[in-house]
Amino acid sequence: MTEPAYDLIIRGGRVATATDVFEADIAIAGETVAAVGRGLGPAKRELDAREKLVLPGGVDSHCHIEQLSAAGIMNADSFESATTSAAFGGTTTVISFAAQHVGMHLREVLDDYHALARKGAVIDYAFHMIIADPTRQTLEQDLPALIRQGHGSIKIFMTYDPLKIDDEPLLDILVAAREGGAMLCAHAENHGIISWMVKRLLARGYSDPKYHAISHARFSEAEAFNRLIGMAALVDQPIMIFHVSTAEGAKVIRDARGQGLKVFAETCPQYLFLTADDLDRPGVEGAKWMCSPPPRRGSDQDALWTALSLGDLQTISSDHAPYRFDETGKLRAGPAPNFKQVANGLPGLETRLPLLFDAMVSEGRLGLEKFVELTSTAPAKIYNLHPRKGSIAVGADADIAIWDPKRRVTIADDAMHDRAGYTPYAGRTVRGWPITVLSRGRVIVDDGKLLASPGSGRFLARSGGEAAKPTGRLVADMNPETNFGAKLL
Ligand code: URP
Ligand code: ZN
Ligand code: ZN
Repeated sequence: MTEPAYDLIIRGGRVATATDVFEADIAIAGETVAAVGRGLGPAKRELDAREKLVLPGGVDSHCHIEQLSAAGIMNADSFESATTSAAFGGTTTVISFAAQHVGMHLREVLDDYHALARKGAVIDYAFHMIIADPTRQTLEQDLPALIRQGHGSIKIFMTYDPLKIDDEPLLDILVAAREGGAMLCAHAENHGIISWMVKRLLARGYSDPKYHAISHARFSEAEAFNRLIGMAALVDQPIMIFHVSTAEGAKVIRDARGQGLKVFAETCPQYLFLTADDLDRPGVEGAKWMCSPPPRRGSDQDALWTALSLGDLQTISSDHAPYRFDETGKLRAGPAPNFKQVANGLPGLETRLPLLFDAMVSEGRLGLEKFVELTSTAPAKIYNLHPRKGSIAVGADADIAIWDPKRRVTIADDAMHDRAGYTPYAGRTVRGWPITVLSRGRVIVDDGKLLASPGSGRFLARSGGEAAKPTGRLVADMNPETNFGAKLL
């Protein structure tokens, strides 16, 4: 008897990519998709996908895993727990951070995060390198080598006291990113405005979690976006602006893209499904909903959905940053902290796709192809993981989530697989849930059971790729005759 040609066939499902929805079988040989068609076979094993949707696994391009916060608090997840929760939520690739703090050697930081991920990850992963200490050693020695070794993106903070990068070093980092061909990602908020607001609020006795939202004045976002975009244009470096939360912020990005600048941007479920009112709960309870930037207003949610539909924002990531609601996390300063003492961040790796599927597919807002694009294909393309990740195509890694579009699930704290101990979305009922998840052809989640072992995820080395390439136009120079900007690079 001859051996079957394929290891696995996913039979009879409705397959969706960022551009098409069609009925097909997916045949997998080894770790990759070998064929997409009808009546494929035979295979050693089959999964029945009739009445189901067969989607590329999610790519979550912004999540904090085993990372120390700005205030020195270790977040609640290990690579094992975070990537397990990602897998249960239909995500098969994460880009998390290797976070330098002041005084640390970037190379050692990378070594440490690699060791943690190698030990624990159950899905594939890549790293953005956070630069908090842009010394000559970091920018001239370590960074270029680390980019060449497959870390094609850098992240900086424009706020958070020990981590923030001021304008002048930021220009140095933008140039270093340009020289290495890496994407520059940023948490962009005006530090001075926030810190002034915090001091004034606390001095006047406004210390509950809801004042966190007020301290991050809306304008602090648009101002920092404008400044960052101006600096990036000055040196012609592509940028990715993280977690856009306001209508004004989205407009700044739309205008910049309209001028031909290479500006990419993301938002997150917390800015589409939560508002500042969620922080306004009795006592310190609202701390569970505290993240930066904070959730805003219903009108901002509408503006962000519009920006997603128009392509002004290209991706939706989780910004998973889990802290337990106890003395190890949110309440580390005691049971009644002021808002400034509470670690910023929400868990969200597992709920990102189900919340968005419910809104976009079940409720029909923007539709299935756009759901796949925003949550899988676009992040894979922007961070140069495509075509290996982010689609279902012959030759791509067989990272696939089979969704039951009819399954109703009420999100609950104790159903989550991360270690935050709560979810900001508890009590919401969503329609549509990923029931079987494959990573490189292996079934890693099946009907509520984890089948992958820690350490089975792999590092995805990548260069900055197409998205990170300069435009070749020094737009801020404004004078093609002198082109003086080019002389300074
Ligand atoms: O509140 C958040 N988002 N915490 C994680 C760190 C960051 O700002 O991205
Ligand atoms: Zn951030
Ligand atoms: Zn973040």
